[in-house]
Amino acid sequence: MTIDVVSTQPIEGQKPGTSGLRKKTRIFMEPHYLENFVQSIFNAIGGAEGKTFVIGGDGRYFNAEAIQTILKMAAANGAVKAIVGQNGLLSTPSASHLIRLNKTDGGLILSASHNPGGIDEDFGLKFNIQNGGPAPESVTDAMLEQTKTLQSYKTLSAPDIVLGQIGKQTLGAMEIEIVDPVSDYTALMKSLFDFDKIRAMFASGFTMRFDAMHAVTGPYAKAILEGELGAPDGTVINGVPLEDFGGGHPDPNPVWAKTLMDLMMSDASPDFGAASDGDGDRNMVVARGTYVTPSDSLAVLAANAHLAPGYKTGLKGVARSMPTSAASDRVAARLGIGSYETPTGWKFFGNLLDAGKVTICGEESAGTGSDHVREKDGLWAILLWLNILAEREMSASEILNDHWETYGRDYYSRHDFEAVPADAANELMSDLRAKLPGLAGQTFAGQTVKHADEFSYHDPVDQSVSHNQGIRIVFAGDARAVFRLSGTGTEGATLRLYLEQYAPQGTDHAKDTQEALRSVRDAAQEISGLKERLGRDAPNVMT
Ligand code: G1P
Ligand code: ZN
Repeated sequence: MTIDVVSTQPIEGQKPGTSGLRKKTRIFMEPHYLENFVQSIFNAIGGAEGKTFVIGGDGRYFNAEAIQTILKMAAANGAVKAIVGQNGLLSTPSASHLIRLNKTDGGLILSASHNPGGIDEDFGLKFNIQNGGPAPESVTDAMLEQTKTLQSYKTLSAPDIVLGQIGKQTLGAMEIEIVDPVSDYTALMKSLFDFDKIRAMFASGFTMRFDAMHAVTGPYAKAILEGELGAPDGTVINGVPLEDFGGGHPDPNPVWAKTLMDLMMSDASPDFGAASDGDGDRNMVVARGTYVTPSDSLAVLAANAHLAPGYKTGLKGVARSMPTSAASDRVAARLGIGSYETPTGWKFFGNLLDAGKVTICGEESAGTGSDHVREKDGLWAILLWLNILAEREMSASEILNDHWETYGRDYYSRHDFEAVPADAANELMSDLRAKLPGLAGQTFAGQTVKHADEFSYHDPVDQSVSHNQGIRIVFAGDARAVFRLSGTGTEGATLRLYLEQYAPQGTDHAKDTQEALRSVRDAAQEISGLKERLGRDAPNVMT
């Protein structure tokens, strides 16, 4: 076995976004592309010499090949050990757990999350640091700098590792340990939730459908829900991970998990419905007959978490991304604990969790999690819901209605305009930015602007500041519109419009969501002219 130093050209544009580097799979497969980024990661973290890494991904097309490349490069760069999920599989939250459990130097996670997989679809790679969370901006900026100047990378010419075989192997001087991806994660969930109580609920006839969307959580959900908790066979559907997710879009929302949604809205609905995404960090929760928005789910979980053993002493605080609704703030206020508003992307929660300022975090994009790992965690959220249902002996929709009666309801929806021309989207944002100072006091579609600004985040832990994190327009009638450009799209630009309207306690909580948001949506359109500018009559996706 020899270490090869391969010369290469810097590859522009390897800029890790909100969740690492995401590109079309064919781009990652181009000669030296993946290698350049991997070497840039190693260089940006001060080299791989003497380090131990966790490596695994969501099983999409190119996952296994990329892992072989990364292992050879890690060995050539002097890493001492790699902990790899069997067959290259690790859900993102379980990778985060393994990084922490084994006190490693970080991990390389291969995934494009909820984006479709396949040779003509998407691939991604991100680096998580020792705390188990995504690399902060200072580290991703250093990676970007490396990709611009890199002249060579190191790799080992050696045969491939057998990824299917649990146990130890060696690659040059590096040890490789192939682990069962599910067992340590299951033990962690057992330490947080009352498995006996949830098992008894299933035994008494409680029914559930979990849609794994042919993505990585299939084996986890089968082992935990059908194995440990005794849910009947067939509770987990689409449970076998496939390289192309069965041709589907593994994004757990009402649009892409339509089969589950239809079931939950039908007469044949089980008691509870849930789904997870490509790499297992997102979740969707559906009550019989009612979709639970991620913003509401975060609020309900925060209000009831103390019912689960892992959180019985209460929460330290709650954090949400800026575009997420204010529902969880209301819970934090009532509990008398801190609430934090961060930019979009899980990496911003890491410091708050590490500093012990918050216990639970969430994003409107179906991400919810706690301080048990440093990623959002789809199955965790679903198990916490199950634990609450078992304790409160109420249905999920009763719990939701009770929540709205107590706190009022934050009607919420996100409208996505995908793959629009980047120039038009950038111009829309810059024109809007220029308008901000004059908006206060003006009325649009019956909504009067209270204040308008562009969100900047001052991290209370490391004092870093992140600018340009989305434009917020707050209206006097307890409504808000947020405009933001996506950092994970792989085609053109994606403009996200986030709409929110509060209905206080004692008012109608049973309106149709889009109807309840009509005036704030019309106001956002009047202020921005987005339909004409983007050449779109309607959003591609409304969640
Ligand atoms: C999207 C979501 C964001 C999430 C990220 C990674 O990013 O909006 O909340 O953290 O995916 O799952 P965006 O495309 O909006 O930049
Ligand atoms: Zn994901």
